[in-house]
Amino acid sequence: MFDALAPDYDQSGVPFFRPIAEGLVEALDPQPGARALDIGCGRGAATLALAEAVGPQGTVTAVDLSPAMAAHTEALLAAAGHAGDVRVMDAAEPDLELGAYDVVSSSLVVFFLDDPAAALRRWVGLLAPGGQIGLATFGDHDEVWTSVEEVFTPWLPTGLRDPRLLGPDSPFVSDAGMERLLRAAGAAQVRTETFDLSVPFEDAEQWRDWSMSTGQRAMWAAVPAQERDGVLAHAAQILADARGTDGRTVLTQGVRYTLGRA
Ligand SMILES: C[S@@+](CC[C@H](N)C(=O)[O-])C[C@H]1O[C@@H](n2cnc3c(N)ncnc32)[C@H](O)[C@@H]1O
Repeated sequence: MFDALAPDYDQSGVPFFRPIAEGLVEALDPQPGARALDIGCGRGAATLALAEAVGPQGTVTAVDLSPAMAAHTEALLAAAGHAGDVRVMDAAEPDLELGAYDVVSSSLVVFFLDDPAAALRRWVGLLAPGGQIGLATFGDHDEVWTSVEEVFTPWLPTGLRDPRLLGPDSPFVSDAGMERLLRAAGAAQVRTETFDLSVPFEDAEQWRDWSMSTGQRAMWAAVPAQERDGVLAHAAQILADARGTDGRTVLTQGVRYTLGRA
């Protein structure tokens, strides 16, 4: 899915993945000269921020399962004049040198993996002593956003449901759950930072274009073609009811950064 999505991914003009990834890198605060690794790099939102932070004395490696995403990251780094080692690789079993990285970032990836706990053990093993790992996952939506996303619910198979809706035992529903997951993977000094990202939408069409440029495209694909106009109209009503005085609807996405050290 991400290979097919890559040309449009995060290209709708609505600020979403980039501020989340940049916030993760800011929280990790990589130092000049550090060896950085970005896991599930997508189009390179965190990778570029890492490259800028570690500078020419540092190194940046980025991996993604999608060749198209990896190609975009490579192009982004090259256009910004940064050297980088971008590889197509399954984050579940990274074929990378153990203990070789000072900073490992992964923004909005870990919940896609079949066995996050096993993957995280491997990721922590990639850290040099004292090295830092940071994971960005989603916190809560505001109520309007929750209602907008519920327009898909009747058509979604369980596997496509939002990881936050997986029930109280899912590590992805709380700061404590994510901290437990990272601690169990062998990280120390585990802590959480959070922030609320304000995401402005001009209208329902912009919301649809944004959602089609994210993993939510799979949700649209799950809706029968003849029902899609109805889904959009339903979302448009919810967004219109929440419009601010400037005519836009500003939705709020909670973001959770779970940070730890080797
Ligand atoms: C929501 S995107 C996030 C991309 C990027 N980190 C960002 O913040 O914009 C999730 C990314 O994880 C990648 N991904 C999903 N499963 C993966 C796996 N098993 N191994 C490596 N990458 C994976 C996808 O190809 C996609 O690029």
